[in-house]
Amino acid sequence: MKRVITYGTFDLLHYGHINLLKRAKEYGDYLIVALSTDEFNKNAKNKVCYFDYEKRKALLEAVRYVDLVIPEENWDQKRSDMHLYHIDTFVMGNDWEGKFDFLKDEGVDVVYLTRTPEISTTQIKLDLQEKEEKK
Ligand code: CTP
Repeated sequence: MKRVITYGTFDLLHYGHINLLKRAKEYGDYLIVALSTDEFNKNAKNKVCYFDYEKRKALLEAVRYVDLVIPEENWDQKRSDMHLYHIDTFVMGNDWEGKFDFLKDEGVDVVYLTRTPEISTTQIKLDLQEKEEKK
């Protein structure tokens, strides 16, 4: 069985996320999502989520391509995750192009997938804000 992992925040789950998860799953049989915790988002990524960790986790677990959701709590867990979860392929969107090539040293394939154009959680928030201001 080939095991794939991807990392991210996945707040306000949208079609760009689904598209990424669908293509990630095509690299294997079992897809793990390491989901950034609220603390990690706040402290390391400077992001405040609309949905808290448990809600974001429940949404991802309802997606047919996702087999397991685990917490992402820091930047450094990736190396050990590769061994802990017996990962064959590490997948990220190409906004992270080249950033995780060091994981090849752990014996995994590292793949960057093209982001779906235009949509992002940040963009959704901005669009809603703009609509609100026009009212
Ligand atoms: N992603 C994608 N296409 C998009 C948006 C996100 O492929 N249009 C991918 C990212 O590259 C990443 C994963 O989905 O691998 C999770 O991304 P995340 O940063 O949680 O989503 P964004 O919508 O980019 O959120 P933000 O605007 O807060 O950065």
